[in-house]
Amino acid sequence: MTAFVKSLVETRSHRPARSGCPVNGHENGQVNGQVNGQVNGQVNGQANGQANGRVVAPAQRSASPDTEPVCVPVDVADAQAFLEQFYAETAPFEPFEARLREVRAEIAETGSYEHTPQELTFGARVAWRNSARCIGRLYWQGLRVRDRRQLSAPQDVAEECAEHLRLTTRGGQIRSTITVFAPDRPGRPGPRIHNEQLIRYAGYRRSGGIVHGDPRNVDFTDRVTALGWQPPTPPGRFDLLPLMISGPATRAELFEIPRDAVLEVTLRHPEYAQFADLQLRWHAVPAISNMPLVIGGVRYSAAPFNGWYLNTEIGARNLADADRYDLLPVIAELLGLDTSSVRTLWRDRALVELTRAVQYSFDAAGVRMADHHTESERFLSHVANEQKAGRSCPADWSWIVPPLSGGLTPVFHRYYDKPDPAVRPAFLSPGAPVV
Ligand code: ARG
Repeated sequence: MTAFVKSLVETRSHRPARSGCPVNGHENGQVNGQVNGQVNGQVNGQANGQANGRVVAPAQRSASPDTEPVCVPVDVADAQAFLEQFYAETAPFEPFEARLREVRAEIAETGSYEHTPQELTFGARVAWRNSARCIGRLYWQGLRVRDRRQLSAPQDVAEECAEHLRLTTRGGQIRSTITVFAPDRPGRPGPRIHNEQLIRYAGYRRSGGIVHGDPRNVDFTDRVTALGWQPPTPPGRFDLLPLMISGPATRAELFEIPRDAVLEVTLRHPEYAQFADLQLRWHAVPAISNMPLVIGGVRYSAAPFNGWYLNTEIGARNLADADRYDLLPVIAELLGLDTSSVRTLWRDRALVELTRAVQYSFDAAGVRMADHHTESERFLSHVANEQKAGRSCPADWSWIVPPLSGGLTPVFHRYYDKPDPAVRPAFLSPGAPVV
């Protein structure tokens, strides 16, 4: 295994950015922007680390100061509000007053406190329940929480990310999972995973503004390339990007995701055999990796989580959007559609067939995938459940309504409680200010 010799110092600025929704991940109203910003470092010379099989770019000592904003102490009021919610919704063994005293004392002494495993699990599940953009929230209580708070070294984080993928994928029987790494503590940030998702495809800039691969990831591809990542030769349209992870010491390091941790589905159409000639594929697991999880004032910046895909995320967005794989003209040609005017509805027809191919291929491969009709019904059951439990269920209409056949789904025909950005526990947008 070759050890690449370049390493780069990555400044951790907190950039405003968009990300996919925890479970749905599309937004009808706006074009998704690039998640990652520019590289703020420079090549630093030779690295002498030994690659252990997974390391692409070993750590490199750097003279640059840590630019991470110092993590601030936990606000006792945030901790208390969380404990109150935890005790109101569950029946913990330890009496509330005792636990509150303990937490207060720990904050006074260290500026932070450690959640019990039960608090962590509850907090992560409620953060999902609070995700206003997610249509898949009916399953919030089924989230599996992997407690890896003892880990912050990039290599350990990378290995556990791969293990997360293996455990969640299960040959296609995907289950919702989150792995929680060391939190930020006063003066000591926890690790950061710079990738938007654990599995993403590279996007290579070509002349004339053309992109080979996924245009969403061109900036990130530039960043990892500057850090020493070497794309496969020749570069493909579905090349797996390496993980880019910083530990508390701030240097970003790269790690290839082991192939056995990544399940992909090759796409074909139930009727058009030529569809397979397009050699399209997509990964089975959407695992968001750059949204900090905040529970009771404690911020877990590295807490990758996944659900399973909804057909339209891939068929009606990732492969269809003009600023993504932009495949509708290709599909239309394959189907022999009249593309002379938008009024022939060729784009609409291509969109349906593309989404059909995605659904068909995932189903045939035995890989769990939701469809927008069923998931819309289920979301409304979730809203009803929440009402029964005496809670409101804020939701963002433009993210909940599917990007295909919106009006055919019941979620289209109503409004929802307005999301409150201050609600906690929550998954924050990447780049949100330090709590
Ligand atoms: N929309 C994102 C994507 O296509 C994924 C967002 C999360 N989706 C999910 N079903 N959990 O990759």
